[in-house]
Amino acid sequence: MRPIFSRLFIGAALLALAACGAPTPGIARGEAMFDTCAPCHGDAGQGKVELEAPPLAGASEWYLAAQLNSFQGGARGYHYQDAGGLRMRPMSRALTTPEDEQSVIAYITSLPAVDPAPTGRGDAQAGAQEYQVCSACHGLDGSGNQALNAPSLLHLPDWYIAASVQKFRDRVRGATPGDIAGATMFPMVMSLSDESIENVAAYIQTLGGGGGTPTTTTTTTTATQPPMEIDPALLPAGVTEAMVQEGQSVFAGAGICYTCHTAEGVGGPLAPNLTDDVWLNVDGSYSSIVELINTGVAQPREHPGAMLPRAGMPLTDDQVAAVAAYVYMLSR
Ligand code: HEC
Ligand code: HEC
Ligand code: HEC
Repeated sequence: MRPIFSRLFIGAALLALAACGAPTPGIARGEAMFDTCAPCHGDAGQGKVELEAPPLAGASEWYLAAQLNSFQGGARGYHYQDAGGLRMRPMSRALTTPEDEQSVIAYITSLPAVDPAPTGRGDAQAGAQEYQVCSACHGLDGSGNQALNAPSLLHLPDWYIAASVQKFRDRVRGATPGDIAGATMFPMVMSLSDESIENVAAYIQTLGGGGGTPTTTTTTTTATQPPMEIDPALLPAGVTEAMVQEGQSVFAGAGICYTCHTAEGVGGPLAPNLTDDVWLNVDGSYSSIVELINTGVAQPREHPGAMLPRAGMPLTDDQVAAVAAYVYMLSR
C-alpha cells in the first residue's frame, strides 16, 4: 500500500507544480494564443477569404469547442480535397491543453462580430425559398439551435457558407464515422445544385446584416517585409536575384509560408526558424530545400502539426524554385 500512496502523492505534487508553472488560463492567455490564429483568421477574427479561413468572431462557445475537437480528432479536415480543412487541422493541434483551448475560445467570444461584405455571386431572393428547410435546425433568423448541434449562420460570409455546404454535400466534411453533428447536414443538402447553394448562401448572409453592396476588390494576402538585400556571390547555381525576389512574395503571399514560419521567417509555435543555420529536416543545400517544399513534412520533429506538400497551395514548379531560393538566402 505504502509505495502506491507515496507515488500518488508525488504524482499529485508534480501536477500541482506543473499547474503553478503554467500560464493562467483566461482571456489574456487566449489573446496571446490568438497570435497563432490571426495570420489566417484575421487580427479581429474577421476571416480571410484568400486563405478560405472563416470569421471566428460571432461564433458561439459551444460550437467553437466542438469544431476544434473535430479537427483535433480528425473528424474534420481529413479529406484530400479539403484544402481549407487540411490547413486548419494542424492548427487545432497547437492547442495542446484543455486550458489553452478554453482560453483561446474565451478570447474569440469576446471579439465583436464583423459583418462581411457579400461576394454578390448568389441570388438572395431565390435562396429564401431554399432556406425553408435549413430553418428547421438553424432557425428562421439563422441564430442556430444548440440542442440540435446546429450553429448560428449569422455573420458568416456567403463564400464560406457555400463552400461548407458543398463540402457536406460532397462528403468532404461530416462523413467520418461517429461525426453525428456533421452527418446531420448531408441529407439536408445532398440534392442541392451549386447554383441553389450560392443562392441560399446569399440569402443567409442577408440575415446577418451583411446585405450591403457587393465587394468588387479582391484582397491579396501579404505579410510585407522590406525587400531582401541580395549578395549575388552567395546565390547557389541556377538561382537568380529575380528568383529570390519572386520567392519573397510567394513566401508572404500565395505560398502562405508566413502563416506558420512568421513574416520574418523566424518561426514560432507552428514551424521552425528558417533564418539560422540550424536545420531539422534538410541539410541546408538549395536542392534539399526545394525537395522539402515539394514533399512537406508529414511528421515534424519538434512541432505539433504537419507541413503539407507545397504548403497545401497550388504552387507552380517555378514558384517552388523561387520560394526555395528565398529560404536559402534567408539563412545566409
Ligand atoms: C494556416 C491558416 C489557419 C490558422 C493559422 C488557423 N486556422 Fe482555423 N481555419 C482555417 C481554415 C482554412 C478553416 C476553414 C476550414 C473549412 O473550410 O472546413 C478554419 C476553420 C476554423 C474553425 C471552424 C469555424 C467554423 O465556422 O466552422 C475554427 C473554430 C478555427 N478555425 C479556429 C482556429 C483557432 C482557434 C486557431 C488558432 C489556434 C486557428 N483556427 C488557426 C485556417 C487556419
Ligand atoms: C437537421 C438539422 C439541419 C438542417 C435542416 C440543416 N443543417 Fe446545417 N448544420 C447542422 C448541424 C448539426 C451542423 C454542424 C455540423 C458540424 O458540427 O460539423 C450544421 C452546419 C452547417 C454549416 C457550417 C457552419 C460553419 O460555421 O462551418 C452551414 C454553412 C450550414 N449548416 C448550412 C445549412 C444550410 C444552407 C441548410 C439548408 C439547405 C442547412 N444547413 C440545413 C444541422 C442542420
Ligand atoms: C502549417 C504550417 C506550415 C506552413 C504553412 C509552412 N510550413 Fe514549412 N515547416 C512546418 C513544419 C511543422 C516544419 C517541420 C518542423 C519540424 O520538423 O519540427 C517545416 C519545415 C520547413 C523547412 C525545413 C526546416 C528545417 O529546419 O528542417 C523548410 C525549408 C520550410 N518548412 C519551408 C516552408 C516554405 C517555403 C513554406 C511555404 C511554401 C512553408 N514552409 C509553409 C510548417 C509549415
